[in-house]
Amino acid sequence: MRRRQFFQAAAAGTVAVLASARSASAQMRNMPGTGIGAMMRRSFTSGSAWPTGYPLRRLDVLANTSAVADEFEGTLVAAPYLASLIFGHTTELWGYNNTFPGPVIDLREGQRAAIDFANRLGLDSTIHWHGLAIPADQDGSPMDPVVPRADRVYTFDVPVGSAGTYWYHPHAHQTTTLQVGHGLAAPLIVRSVDDPLAMLPEVTLMVTSLTLDQNGQVVTGVAVAGGMGGMMMAGAGELLVNGQKLPLHAMTPGATERWRIINATADRYLRIGLDGHRFAVVGTDGGLLGRPLAGLTEWLLAPAQRVEIVVTIATRRSTRYALRDLGYSGGMSGGAGGELMTVETGRTPARAPVELPAVLRPVADLGPASGRQRVVLSGAGMGMMGAFLINGKSFDMNRVDLETVVGRVELWDLVNATFMDHPIHIHGTQFQVVARTVGGLAAPVSYPAWLDTVNVPAGETITIKTRQMLPGKRMFHCHILPHEDAGMMAVLDVRPA
Ligand code: C2O
Ligand code: CU
Ligand code: CU
Repeated sequence: MRRRQFFQAAAAGTVAVLASARSASAQMRNMPGTGIGAMMRRSFTSGSAWPTGYPLRRLDVLANTSAVADEFEGTLVAAPYLASLIFGHTTELWGYNNTFPGPVIDLREGQRAAIDFANRLGLDSTIHWHGLAIPADQDGSPMDPVVPRADRVYTFDVPVGSAGTYWYHPHAHQTTTLQVGHGLAAPLIVRSVDDPLAMLPEVTLMVTSLTLDQNGQVVTGVAVAGGMGGMMMAGAGELLVNGQKLPLHAMTPGATERWRIINATADRYLRIGLDGHRFAVVGTDGGLLGRPLAGLTEWLLAPAQRVEIVVTIATRRSTRYALRDLGYSGGMSGGAGGELMTVETGRTPARAPVELPAVLRPVADLGPASGRQRVVLSGAGMGMMGAFLINGKSFDMNRVDLETVVGRVELWDLVNATFMDHPIHIHGTQFQVVARTVGGLAAPVSYPAWLDTVNVPAGETITIKTRQMLPGKRMFHCHILPHEDAGMMAVLDVRPA
């Protein structure tokens, strides 16, 4: 393929759609053969094979096919397809509607959503609506697999008060790393009618990691999950923003923008920083903070977390600044970091800065807790060579690990007894961090925020205040996906009040 054609294809994202899911099932059959030895001998495609510096792509948005007001209806087909990502090879990705990443689902609070899902992969899948408090039977948990060639409809009401940045991804038993690692993940944005930042131009930056072998084919940690998977694969892949390696984002000098950043990587901690700039954090997983946290130079975004930041770019014309992952040690979970995106100011005159409102949206306290639960994260064997456990057990979807009651406010102590960080995620709700213990001493938590995923640093304890408002069985787990697949997941049974 000539270079120019290559870029046209790369810009379109897709070369051809595979006629069948044969290739996906072949990959499944081949899994045992790609064991740890093969993995260690394998060489990965180096960064130089990736085209860089192309204008940042705006992600496709899923069309609303409903004619009814206050309803959203859309179709997602998960299937393998071929994409041009690197020089010299086409790559088999698995995508929703043949997009990587995407498409974005853009919803409004109070809307009724009905999403038709067609599984055209060669293995069981689901769609999990990460972070949304929706009924347990619509949550796409591993208890409700959609088998190959089957369809199902997910329906839910978008909760009022949930405006924020979410994402959706497969959550099938023990194959989440494999599926997300092949490209199945996309943003989901919920909007409110009274967004105090609606005046700002906004950009969604979905960060994913992709590891390609020397033939340009996707490698994921799944073949070695339960072994050294989580540790070995960390840091192996390329960090991509909206599916692109080092895209270029053009801004008017002095312009202020709202960036929704999603860490959709399988296992990478991102310590976000923008060269020469401070920024304000205005939102976390569950939406806006009470007030902006201004003047920050970095923000740690654990796997699965989201952050909304407001950036005012410098007034200097024709200048480049790097958006970076500053690197993180994270016990043994971290990575070396690297450049994510280039921001370039234009030649047009600088804009007057935009003042942020002092108050965004109240983040209410959940009130006094009437229960306390303990969640201990541990590893068998040498800590990362064997299983990843919660309260001494490996995941079993037929077992109930913790019980609660609808509406009961609880404190959960998340105790990390391992030598690496684990981002812990609870389905069906947003919670608040109320305390952290560092080296046995309590450390203050300075501001309230809604989270569905919290990083529990190696050897530390994080206490959260949480409440479930809908009955049913919910997962909670480490969102380093190879850890989840290897058993660091448990079941919370929420009983009716
Ligand atoms: Cu984003 Cu249970 O997952
Ligand atoms: Cu989730
Ligand atoms: Cu983990």
